[in-house]
Amino acid sequence: MAQQQENGRINGFSKLGKAERRQWLLDTFLPTQSVGDFCYFDAASENLQRVLDNFSENTVANFPLPFGVAPNVIVNGRTYAVPMVIEESSVVAAASSSAKYWSTRGGFTTEGIATEKLGQLHFRWSGRPERRAALLPALERRLRGATSGLTARMEVRGGGVRGMQWKHLPEVHPQCYQLLVRFGTADSMGANFINTVLEAYAGELERWVASSKALTADEREVEVIMAILSNHTPNCTVRAAVRCPIAEMNIPGSGVDAADFVRRFQLAVEIARQDPYRAVTHNKGIMNGIDAVVLATGNDFRAVEAAAHAFAAEDGQYRSLSRCRVVDEVFHFELTVPLALGTVGGLTRLHPLASLSLDLLGRPGAEELMGIAAATGLAQNFAALRSLVTTGIQRGHMKMHLQNILASLEASVPERRQTAEFFAGRTVSHHGVRQYLENLRLRKGSNL
Ligand code: MEV
Repeated sequence: MAQQQENGRINGFSKLGKAERRQWLLDTFLPTQSVGDFCYFDAASENLQRVLDNFSENTVANFPLPFGVAPNVIVNGRTYAVPMVIEESSVVAAASSSAKYWSTRGGFTTEGIATEKLGQLHFRWSGRPERRAALLPALERRLRGATSGLTARMEVRGGGVRGMQWKHLPEVHPQCYQLLVRFGTADSMGANFINTVLEAYAGELERWVASSKALTADEREVEVIMAILSNHTPNCTVRAAVRCPIAEMNIPGSGVDAADFVRRFQLAVEIARQDPYRAVTHNKGIMNGIDAVVLATGNDFRAVEAAAHAFAAEDGQYRSLSRCRVVDEVFHFELTVPLALGTVGGLTRLHPLASLSLDLLGRPGAEELMGIAAATGLAQNFAALRSLVTTGIQRGHMKMHLQNILASLEASVPERRQTAEFFAGRTVSHHGVRQYLENLRLRKGSNL
């Protein structure tokens, strides 16, 4: 049973039922709110609510996000309507507009570069580092043999353990070692598989050190520190690209001709390759597109984010993930990014909307989904830079921002239309829109 303590603390919160958790929060932190503020977001179906509640702990409500679609995304000749879950206005509109632009210029091509994932077992061992080369083959045989039951099904699907290295980490401690294991995980993201195998390796390593006849008495001390996958996945990458003769790169309404646009665009990408401050913003724009697809398909956006930014800093300086070049009057724009995605298992199956997203995409395999997500990231990046080097970003943003302000002021459809007409070409601010709407309503009232 939960025990209320002073200063907003509690023991046993997780043991409370959802209604009690809500009530405790209301009593303790939310004096002006009511239980309806939580219930408002409850799923209509009890079954769905149960599914959502099972994803996490201490749940008190659902947190809805918009689920949008970018149509006309052509990837390797196939047209997709790409599902995107994102709260930031303009992102889906930008991806859609960019996808449409490229749909008349050959679409996106993508190429899976590799799909390997990594896991690490860290341990302290009393032996000498020079002994690793002689001992590794026997250790590897023993670890693989002991876990064959765990890996058999993954091997049937084309995955499994691909190899391992035994590294010495003297910079951490003279006796610190790492077993770096390479995995294939077929169409799954594979986190559970990798972690299960690594933990089994940890136990087997201890048994091997204690019992192997190949080890001497002073090599029998081992202490496992930790076993976990690495979210750094530089060998699980995909490249998305677009290309087009410069002469066909016209941007209607931008006020710049095709050649000038390409010149300015190329400079903008180069700035993001050289300047980390710009690179972070540039890559954030790419991740606007990628994360939205990752979320919509029930994948782990934190893992994808962490991997992408580590990859962006691969040569020691944080740089743009995309590159641009002009060869023989042809514009080339491409993005290479690590994307450890899955299309089977985990949330991809359990979350009904993630499953619907995958249906929408025609049930892709992991590599195909990597390509779709990368193409969406590149589309997003193209749209952002296209605005930045021509009209500026605020024009498009403010259109959406205006709609959000109007929604918050509960504007009717005719009021929205009239306000949008008035603010076309004018600076949008919350204060300005409210004042305009108030005047509009006053005028309307006096006409009655
Ligand atoms: C906003 O979410 C993303 C941009 O800042 C990206 C960029 O500047 O390239 C527009």
